[in-house]
Amino acid sequence: MLTRDDVFDELGIGPVWRLREAVSTPSPDTTTPPAVHQSLADWDQLSDAVNQCTACKLHRTRTQGVLGVGDRNADWLIVGEAPGADEDAQGEPFVGQAGKLLDAMLAALDLRRGHNVYIANVLKSRPPGNRNPEPDEVAACRPYLLAQVQLIQPKLILALGRFAAQSLLASDEAIARLRGRVHTFQNVPLIVTYHPAYLLRNLPDKARAWEDLCLARRTMMNL
Ligand code: URA
Repeated sequence: MLTRDDVFDELGIGPVWRLREAVSTPSPDTTTPPAVHQSLADWDQLSDAVNQCTACKLHRTRTQGVLGVGDRNADWLIVGEAPGADEDAQGEPFVGQAGKLLDAMLAALDLRRGHNVYIANVLKSRPPGNRNPEPDEVAACRPYLLAQVQLIQPKLILALGRFAAQSLLASDEAIARLRGRVHTFQNVPLIVTYHPAYLLRNLPDKARAWEDLCLARRTMMNL
């Protein structure tokens, strides 16, 4: 079991960072949630649909669809990019090295995988060779993420990395400009932070990720 100090060590955060918390106010989202297709209206249907999905070319190379994992009544929805090799093999998001760091980030929010948190990806199928998702693949998978948001009804979404942030927000702004403020997706407050795989390669940005987590925690508390 991770302690808070383990988390700070894992995130590479010194005490100074614990004091730095960004302040922001959610901006209103004027879009109306789209109706979810009848065949995605419950978890069994959604799970079957993802497993049997042939809506894009990724079904030819994936081992299995990776719907998501965790508490289906969670307040927190974490959204990453796409399954990698480990996730494709095991059928669960964030089970590799990046997943270990994600677990530490969750612990910094007093969260544990499966408890009040649900973890999903923009894409439910692995892009071969871990290449970037392509626009047609994102479009094909979008109904599944929308269905997850409607079924879970999270209070807050944390988007991990440039790709998830830009896809959810339909934006091409750099992650540096997207983080540090509260957006909305389907009327749910959304906060952007760095992807744990990126943080593993860019240690100095862990301090910025900590600021994002503080913003997320405070936003949740103020809801
Ligand atoms: N990276 C992601 O974005 N998602 C995963 O599930 C694993 C790695």
